[in-house]
Amino acid sequence: MKKLRVLLVTLVCALTFGSGVQAAEPETEMGKQMDKMSGAFRALRRQAADATKNADSLAKLKTIREMAIASEKLEPAMKAEIPADKQAKFVADYRAKMKEFVALVDKAEAAFKANNNEEAAKILGAMADAQKAGHKDFKKKDKK
Ligand code: HEM
Repeated sequence: MKKLRVLLVTLVCALTFGSGVQAAEPETEMGKQMDKMSGAFRALRRQAADATKNADSLAKLKTIREMAIASEKLEPAMKAEIPADKQAKFVADYRAKMKEFVALVDKAEAAFKANNNEEAAKILGAMADAQKAGHKDFKKKDKK
């Protein structure tokens, strides 16, 4: 009987608090763009070697480009944690890195158009590195 009660309490807790455990909703406008970019990038990496999917891979890159360009116009939330006299440089550095990222998207696009999937996969690796570095330098540390 006691076991049943424990089970019921566990179930109620899971139902009540379970939704909070799911992936956090983006808190910023940039977070929304990043989330869309993330979905497209994950799918793109899975299919990058498959030349029969190159048209779709190009469509995914188009989404990534649009989201990156929209993000570039915004300012990282981390700016608020930077001393006032360093904020302008922080935002300029962020925008420069995002431009470099878009240049990689251009290169990946050219590789897929040329049906050079091996080269495309390499560039996607460089995009993942840019993501890692960008998050290290410009994303608030309490975030994913
Ligand atoms: C393939 C490339 C990338 C992917 C898939 C990606 C994905 C993400 C994801 C999933 C988040 C969390 C969004 C949320 O739920 O709040 C995020 C946040 C963020 N990313 Fe990226 N990212 C990429 C590239 C970059 C690059 C190149 C930079 C910087 C140059 C960057 C800067 C940021 C910043 C600053 C945030 C925090 C948002 C804010 O401050 O409002 N990301 N990104």
